[in-house]
Amino acid sequence: MAMFEGKSILLIVGGGIAAYKTLELIRRLRERGATVRCVLTEGGAQFVTPMSLAALSEQPVFTDLFSLKDETEMGHIQLSRLADLLVVCPATADLLAKMAAGLAGDLATTALLATDKPVLAVPAMNVRMWQHPATRRSIAQLRADGVAVLEPASGPMACGEFGPGRLPEVPDIVQAIAAQLGRGTRLAGVHVLVTAGPTHEPIDPGRYIANRSSGKQGYAIAAELAALGATVTLVSGPTGLAAPAGVTRVDVETALDMEAACAAALPADVAVCVAAVADWRVEAAAQKVKKQGGEPPALRLIENPDILAGLCRATNRPRLVVGFAAETEKVIEHAQAKRQKKGCDWIVANDVAPETGVMGGDANTIHLVTPDGVETWPTLAKSAVARNIAERIADALDR
Ligand code: CTP
Repeated sequence: MAMFEGKSILLIVGGGIAAYKTLELIRRLRERGATVRCVLTEGGAQFVTPMSLAALSEQPVFTDLFSLKDETEMGHIQLSRLADLLVVCPATADLLAKMAAGLAGDLATTALLATDKPVLAVPAMNVRMWQHPATRRSIAQLRADGVAVLEPASGPMACGEFGPGRLPEVPDIVQAIAAQLGRGTRLAGVHVLVTAGPTHEPIDPGRYIANRSSGKQGYAIAAELAALGATVTLVSGPTGLAAPAGVTRVDVETALDMEAACAAALPADVAVCVAAVADWRVEAAAQKVKKQGGEPPALRLIENPDILAGLCRATNRPRLVVGFAAETEKVIEHAQAKRQKKGCDWIVANDVAPETGVMGGDANTIHLVTPDGVETWPTLAKSAVARNIAERIADALDR
């Protein structure tokens, strides 16, 4: 069955340059079986035409609260009542502020105020607008009101600037929609702790040691677990990735911070440790290390706690603990040894030899090591790996 079969999405298109990307979004949602109805704000209509939205959605497009024809065909209350999810994309600073304040001066904001359905906002705007305290306030208020807000992506922007504010890629928006629509299903009521990303270990106040982990696999797993209805705490090292919608992210920098954040997140039913935790931290200098001529300074390394092993030893150990193993040779053998040594239930082993392109790339070849043996999966996109792992976790919990 298609992912969104039988689901109805009300897509509210705000007035931003990224509005044109909603055309692609509509196609992807419909391919997956969703019915998409669009509300186009006055600003949105400056960027895309009602005709394009109507052609792609094969539904009438609603543009004006006060159009009697629209109201008789489908009232604004009915519009949100028919939807399983309201998606605001692009959510402009103006729309977010109106939503946060509860204004209802047009069809889009009225539909948003009149609904008791889940709402996903996908902001896109200039980096300074995104970082402005007023927008920060809107976002904080909306999150407190239970609106899922997808973090914008970072990168070059249409306005010539660089930074967070770009509309996330369409597949990421689809994944966030899946997470919202899938709520309350297989993993409802299950709390899963996921660690992801690298850790940064300071050398002095200005420098640190890091690794090449992108965090993509861990974030994808967190998103898929949320899509199955789990309550997910994502303890993340620095990644620059957008937090998956519906996931509670706790940002950390060092392995010690990550250990503390994980301990604070317990009790959890399941822990999935995907983070590439630095094995060592530096005996850090309180002040910046200066060049002094002669010998370069020596860094003294101290072993970091093993967070995964610690979770396995915890008195309130999660029922299922899943570790990852990044190996460059004898992948399965090393993974089996790691499972024993750390005391976890499963190890998801992947070959990260440089020629595989796994680190930072989008695909992964997995060997799943469980007490029952080893399964080798075909090479899959990290999103598909994440989906399989989430499903396997649900199977293991008999959900
Ligand atoms: N891990 C952890 N805390 C650490 C190190 C690793 O929680 N300090 C977790 C990782 O999140 C992963 C698993 O342990 O789930 C395996 O990590 P990996 O780096 O492959 O293993 P190491 O224990 O570092 O072993 P080695 O470096 O010898 O391969």
